[in-house]
Amino acid sequence: MPAYSALSHLECSRTGSRHDPDVIQGTSPAGAPLLARYDVERVRATVTKEEIAARPASLWRYHEMLPVRSERNVVSLGEGMTPLLDLPRYGAALGVPALRMKDESLIPSGSFKARGAAVGVSRAAELGVTGIAMPTNGNAGAAWSLYAARAGMRSLVAMPTDAPEITRTECVVSGAELYLVDGLIGDAGRLVAAAVAERTGYQEISTLKEPYRIEGKKTMGYEIVEQLGWRMPDVILYPTGGGVGIIGIHKALLELRELGWIDGDLPRLVAVQATGCAPIVEAYERGARESEPFPDARTVAFGITVPKALGDFLVLDAVRETGGTAIAVTDEDLLAAQAALARVEGAFICPEGAACFAAVEQLRASGWLRGDEEVVVLNTGAGLKYPETVPVDVPTLPVDGRIPDLPESA
Ligand SMILES: Cc1ncc(COP(=O)(O)O)c(C=O)c1O
Repeated sequence: MPAYSALSHLECSRTGSRHDPDVIQGTSPAGAPLLARYDVERVRATVTKEEIAARPASLWRYHEMLPVRSERNVVSLGEGMTPLLDLPRYGAALGVPALRMKDESLIPSGSFKARGAAVGVSRAAELGVTGIAMPTNGNAGAAWSLYAARAGMRSLVAMPTDAPEITRTECVVSGAELYLVDGLIGDAGRLVAAAVAERTGYQEISTLKEPYRIEGKKTMGYEIVEQLGWRMPDVILYPTGGGVGIIGIHKALLELRELGWIDGDLPRLVAVQATGCAPIVEAYERGARESEPFPDARTVAFGITVPKALGDFLVLDAVRETGGTAIAVTDEDLLAAQAALARVEGAFICPEGAACFAAVEQLRASGWLRGDEEVVVLNTGAGLKYPETVPVDVPTLPVDGRIPDLPESA
């Protein structure tokens, strides 16, 4: 029987050096992210896309191209195969009728971070890790705590005090050791690294400092292609913080092309940031290979408040190699897009996803996006996790009161 995973080795994303995938690994000796590589020839010879399409609706349907060696080690809460929704009314209003949303609000823990956590925790457990430690902007810590609990693993999480409050609750309810830090994710990262150095049995799984979170996130790319009938859209927009999702989608598209399941030019990938924290946009505009730390970072789209990402150069490669772009939007514009989506399409999306819709509007207005293009936006999480982004100002009625008549204009 063919192996569950075709994982062959890990490769340094900077130097190309090869490393053993069957021991616990962090970054490469060059300090860069390690990327999982597979025996693609073997996968091509043993499985067809029709067989994949007949499998259960979870991200594990792509298991040959995921790193977990044995199905017995899969830790799952039912993640993957989220809807790819048409947005006919909103798309028409923006002048992009073929606008679609990959909606990650319908996934365990309410954010796409469940994908990285499912694959990362499964592989960590398979390699004998008994505790994970991480800094987070909230959603990743919540997802990893929940999956770690399911795997019977300990978790240590540090997050900024400004991270969405519900993510604290998710960590606490799943038994994580949680610390709040009066700072940004980089400050939380320093505290976690120092703690891991003094403890045994914990692996530090900060963004791109272990090789498998990205493997879970890349499945968004596999699913978009499969859901479009093994076709690529023209453009994909992604709210970019640490950048794992956009790097993962780029990796997925390259793998799918190598597998021979798609062909032709890749979609133009667009990295969307907020004007309050836009290091990658700034580097893109300067023509730089890497970003500079963004000063005084602040945006309501908290998940993308990452002043300096370890994988910034990989995000910039993904954007440039596909003829995409990087663009920043204001908090005002992204909140307006969040409200519009809910009113016009009934979708309550997270502010990070909303940033991408504000970017669609700007890119269409500038002519960068044509009206006949097929565009996919990643909504990376549920608006329900961010109740504070919507001001609720409504009257309270006395029990013996009366609901006012509709005004004439309504
Ligand atoms: C809802 C949401 N969207 C996007 C991101 C950014 O993720 P990435 O590291 O893939 O850029 C985050 C990260 O915290 C997030 O929580």
